Amino acid sequence: SIYLVGIVILAYLFGSIPTAVWFGQAFYGVDVREYGSGNAGATNTFRVLGPKAGAIVMFIDILKGWTATNLPYLLDPTIFGSHAAPQFVNFQLALGVIAVLGHLFPIFAGFRGGKGVATLFGMVLAIHAPAALCCVTVFILTLMITHYVSLSSILAGFTFPLSIAFIFKTTIPSVLLYAIAICALILVTHQKNIERLLKGHESKIYLFKKKKP
Ligand code: G3P
Repeated sequence: SIYLVGIVILAYLFGSIPTAVWFGQAFYGVDVREYGSGNAGATNTFRVLGPKAGAIVMFIDILKGWTATNLPYLLDPTIFGSHAAPQFVNFQLALGVIAVLGHLFPIFAGFRGGKGVATLFGMVLAIHAPAALCCVTVFILTLMITHYVSLSSILAGFTFPLSIAFIFKTTIPSVLLYAIAICALILVTHQKNIERLLKGHESKIYLFKKKKP
Protein backbone atom coordinates (compact mmCIF):
# COMPACT_ATOMS: atom_id res chain seq x y z
CA SER A 1 0.00 0.00 0.00
CA ILE A 2 3.02 2.31 0.19
CA TYR A 3 3.02 1.52 -3.54
CA LEU A 4 -0.58 2.71 -3.78
CA VAL A 5 0.14 5.96 -1.95
CA GLY A 6 3.21 6.55 -4.09
CA ILE A 7 1.36 5.99 -7.34
CA VAL A 8 -1.49 8.29 -6.28
CA ILE A 9 0.96 11.06 -5.39
CA LEU A 10 2.76 10.53 -8.70
CA ALA A 11 -0.53 10.86 -10.63
CA TYR A 12 -1.27 14.13 -8.82
CA LEU A 13 2.26 15.44 -9.52
CA PHE A 14 1.95 14.55 -13.21
CA GLY A 15 -1.38 16.34 -13.46
CA SER A 16 0.11 19.28 -11.54
CA ILE A 17 2.67 20.06 -14.24
CA PRO A 18 1.39 23.52 -15.26
CA THR A 19 2.27 23.18 -18.93
CA ALA A 20 0.59 26.40 -20.10
CA VAL A 21 2.14 28.49 -17.31
CA TRP A 22 5.66 27.09 -17.62
CA PHE A 23 5.66 27.09 -21.42
CA GLY A 24 4.51 30.70 -21.59
CA GLN A 25 6.98 31.82 -18.94
CA ALA A 26 9.92 29.92 -20.44
CA PHE A 27 9.50 30.85 -24.11
CA TYR A 28 7.45 34.05 -24.11
CA GLY A 29 8.05 35.53 -20.69
CA VAL A 30 4.32 35.67 -19.95
CA ASP A 31 1.95 33.94 -17.57
CA VAL A 32 -1.04 33.12 -19.79
CA ARG A 33 -3.26 33.39 -16.71
CA GLU A 34 -2.88 37.16 -16.89
CA TYR A 35 -4.43 37.34 -20.36
CA GLY A 36 -7.42 36.10 -22.32
CA SER A 37 -9.73 33.90 -20.30
CA GLY A 38 -7.15 33.67 -17.51
CA ASN A 39 -7.14 29.90 -17.83
CA ALA A 40 -3.94 27.84 -17.72
CA GLY A 41 -4.88 25.59 -20.61
CA ALA A 42 -4.18 24.87 -24.26
CA THR A 43 -7.07 27.03 -25.50
CA ASN A 44 -5.92 30.14 -23.69
CA THR A 45 -2.32 29.46 -24.72
CA PHE A 46 -3.55 29.36 -28.33
CA ARG A 47 -5.45 32.59 -27.74
CA VAL A 48 -2.53 34.41 -26.11
CA LEU A 49 0.58 32.86 -27.69
CA GLY A 50 -0.62 31.37 -30.96
CA PRO A 51 -1.28 28.00 -32.60
CA LYS A 52 2.14 26.39 -32.16
CA ALA A 53 2.27 27.10 -28.44
CA GLY A 54 -1.37 25.99 -28.06
CA ALA A 55 -0.72 22.71 -29.87
CA ILE A 56 2.34 21.88 -27.76
CA VAL A 57 0.53 22.64 -24.50
CA MET A 58 -2.45 20.57 -25.64
CA PHE A 59 -0.21 17.62 -26.52
CA ILE A 60 1.62 17.67 -23.17
CA ASP A 61 -1.62 18.11 -21.18
CA ILE A 62 -3.15 15.11 -23.00
CA LEU A 63 0.02 13.12 -22.32
CA LYS A 64 -0.24 13.96 -18.60
CA GLY A 65 -3.69 12.38 -18.36
CA TRP A 66 -2.72 9.40 -20.46
CA THR A 67 0.47 8.78 -18.47
CA ALA A 68 -1.20 9.08 -15.06
CA THR A 69 -3.99 6.71 -16.12
CA ASN A 70 -1.46 4.17 -17.39
CA LEU A 71 0.94 4.56 -14.45
CA PRO A 72 0.38 1.02 -13.10
CA TYR A 73 1.35 -0.41 -16.50
CA LEU A 74 4.23 1.99 -17.03
CA LEU A 75 5.72 1.27 -13.60
CA ASP A 76 5.29 -2.49 -13.88
CA PRO A 77 4.75 -3.79 -17.44
CA THR A 78 4.55 -7.38 -16.14
CA ILE A 79 1.06 -6.77 -14.73
CA PHE A 80 -0.12 -6.10 -18.26
CA GLY A 81 -2.77 -8.64 -19.19
CA SER A 82 -3.12 -10.09 -15.73
CA HIS A 83 -5.40 -7.36 -14.41
CA ALA A 84 -7.93 -6.79 -17.16
CA ALA A 85 -10.53 -6.91 -14.41
CA PRO A 86 -13.01 -4.13 -13.60
CA GLN A 87 -11.36 -3.34 -10.26
CA PHE A 88 -8.13 -2.55 -12.08
CA VAL A 89 -9.96 -0.22 -14.43
CA ASN A 90 -11.35 1.44 -11.30
CA PHE A 91 -7.84 2.13 -10.10
CA GLN A 92 -6.89 3.58 -13.49
CA LEU A 93 -9.99 5.78 -13.52
CA ALA A 94 -9.13 7.04 -10.04
CA LEU A 95 -5.57 7.85 -11.12
CA GLY A 96 -6.87 9.74 -14.14
CA VAL A 97 -9.22 11.83 -12.02
CA ILE A 98 -6.42 12.53 -9.54
CA ALA A 99 -4.24 13.78 -12.41
CA VAL A 100 -7.10 16.02 -13.55
CA LEU A 101 -7.40 17.41 -10.01
CA GLY A 102 -3.65 18.09 -10.22
CA HIS A 103 -4.24 19.99 -13.45
CA LEU A 104 -7.08 21.99 -11.87
CA PHE A 105 -5.14 22.66 -8.64
CA PRO A 106 -1.44 22.40 -9.52
CA ILE A 107 0.99 22.35 -6.61
CA PHE A 108 3.62 23.89 -8.91
CA ALA A 109 1.56 26.94 -9.90
CA GLY A 110 -0.17 28.25 -6.80
CA PHE A 111 -3.07 25.81 -7.23
CA ARG A 112 -4.45 27.91 -10.10
CA GLY A 113 -4.58 25.63 -13.13
CA GLY A 114 -6.82 24.84 -16.08
CA LYS A 115 -10.20 23.29 -16.77
CA GLY A 116 -8.97 19.76 -17.33
CA VAL A 117 -10.28 19.08 -20.81
CA ALA A 118 -7.02 17.94 -22.45
CA THR A 119 -5.99 15.95 -19.38
CA LEU A 120 -9.42 14.30 -19.24
CA PHE A 121 -9.08 13.47 -22.91
CA GLY A 122 -5.75 11.73 -22.23
CA MET A 123 -7.48 9.73 -19.51
CA VAL A 124 -10.38 8.75 -21.80
CA LEU A 125 -7.88 7.76 -24.49
CA ALA A 126 -6.16 5.43 -22.03
CA ILE A 127 -9.42 3.93 -20.75
CA HIS A 128 -11.52 3.66 -23.90
CA ALA A 129 -9.92 4.78 -27.16
CA PRO A 130 -13.04 4.27 -29.34
CA ALA A 131 -15.07 6.51 -27.02
CA ALA A 132 -12.22 9.04 -27.13
CA LEU A 133 -12.54 9.06 -30.91
CA CYS A 134 -16.28 9.80 -30.62
CA CYS A 135 -15.49 12.69 -28.23
CA VAL A 136 -12.87 14.14 -30.60
CA THR A 137 -15.29 13.94 -33.52
CA VAL A 138 -17.97 15.85 -31.60
CA PHE A 139 -15.36 18.35 -30.38
CA ILE A 140 -14.01 19.08 -33.87
CA LEU A 141 -17.46 19.31 -35.49
CA THR A 142 -18.72 21.68 -32.78
CA LEU A 143 -15.59 23.81 -33.07
CA MET A 144 -15.86 23.98 -36.85
CA ILE A 145 -19.50 25.01 -36.68
CA THR A 146 -19.53 27.36 -33.65
CA HIS A 147 -15.85 28.32 -33.02
CA TYR A 148 -16.49 28.02 -29.27
CA VAL A 149 -13.88 25.74 -27.65
CA SER A 150 -15.79 25.71 -24.36
CA LEU A 151 -19.02 24.52 -26.03
CA SER A 152 -17.01 21.91 -27.93
CA SER A 153 -15.48 20.71 -24.63
CA ILE A 154 -18.91 20.51 -22.97
CA LEU A 155 -20.52 18.57 -25.83
CA ALA A 156 -17.48 16.26 -26.05
CA GLY A 157 -17.90 15.75 -22.29
CA PHE A 158 -21.52 14.62 -22.81
CA THR A 159 -20.38 12.35 -25.64
CA PHE A 160 -18.25 10.25 -23.29
CA PRO A 161 -21.01 8.79 -21.06
CA LEU A 162 -23.49 8.69 -23.96
CA SER A 163 -21.14 6.75 -26.25
CA ILE A 164 -20.04 4.46 -23.41
CA ALA A 165 -23.67 3.66 -22.62
CA PHE A 166 -25.36 3.54 -26.01
CA ILE A 167 -22.69 2.84 -28.63
CA PHE A 168 -20.23 0.64 -26.75
CA LYS A 169 -22.74 -0.65 -24.17
CA THR A 170 -20.14 -1.09 -21.45
CA THR A 171 -20.67 -3.83 -18.89
CA ILE A 172 -18.46 -2.10 -16.33
CA PRO A 173 -20.74 0.13 -14.22
CA SER A 174 -17.85 2.13 -12.74
CA VAL A 175 -16.74 3.24 -16.20
CA LEU A 176 -20.20 4.68 -16.80
CA LEU A 177 -20.23 6.32 -13.36
CA TYR A 178 -16.85 7.91 -13.96
CA ALA A 179 -17.96 9.01 -17.43
CA ILE A 180 -20.96 10.81 -15.91
CA ALA A 181 -18.71 12.32 -13.22
CA ILE A 182 -16.27 13.57 -15.87
CA CYS A 183 -19.12 15.15 -17.79
CA ALA A 184 -20.29 16.87 -14.60
CA LEU A 185 -16.74 18.01 -13.81
CA ILE A 186 -16.47 19.69 -17.21
CA LEU A 187 -19.73 21.54 -16.55
CA VAL A 188 -18.37 22.71 -13.19
CA THR A 189 -15.03 23.95 -14.58
CA HIS A 190 -16.83 25.71 -17.45
CA GLN A 191 -19.34 27.67 -15.36
CA LYS A 192 -17.95 31.05 -16.43
CA ASN A 193 -17.83 29.90 -20.06
CA ILE A 194 -21.48 28.78 -19.83
CA GLU A 195 -22.46 32.21 -18.47
CA ARG A 196 -20.59 33.89 -21.33
CA LEU A 197 -22.12 31.53 -23.91
CA LEU A 198 -25.62 32.33 -22.66
CA LYS A 199 -24.91 36.07 -22.78
CA GLY A 200 -23.28 35.73 -26.20
CA HIS A 201 -19.97 37.06 -24.82
CA GLU A 202 -17.84 33.94 -25.22
CA SER A 203 -14.71 34.47 -27.31
CA LYS A 204 -14.47 32.54 -30.55
CA ILE A 205 -11.44 30.61 -31.69
CA TYR A 206 -10.47 30.40 -35.35
CA LEU A 207 -7.94 27.62 -35.90
CA PHE A 208 -7.05 28.92 -39.32
CA LYS A 209 -6.55 32.59 -39.95
CA LYS A 210 -9.20 34.03 -42.20
CA LYS A 211 -7.69 35.17 -45.48
CA LYS A 212 -7.65 38.92 -45.91
CA PRO A 213 -9.72 40.09 -48.87
O1 G3P B 1 -9.99 23.72 -22.39
C1 G3P B 1 -10.72 24.72 -21.81
C2 G3P B 1 -11.68 25.26 -22.86
O2 G3P B 1 -12.80 24.42 -22.95
C3 G3P B 1 -12.08 26.66 -22.56
O3 G3P B 1 -10.94 27.44 -22.35
O4 G3P B 1 -9.68 29.53 -22.13
O5 G3P B 1 -11.80 29.50 -23.45
O6 G3P B 1 -11.89 29.28 -20.97
P1 G3P B 1 -11.10 29.02 -22.19
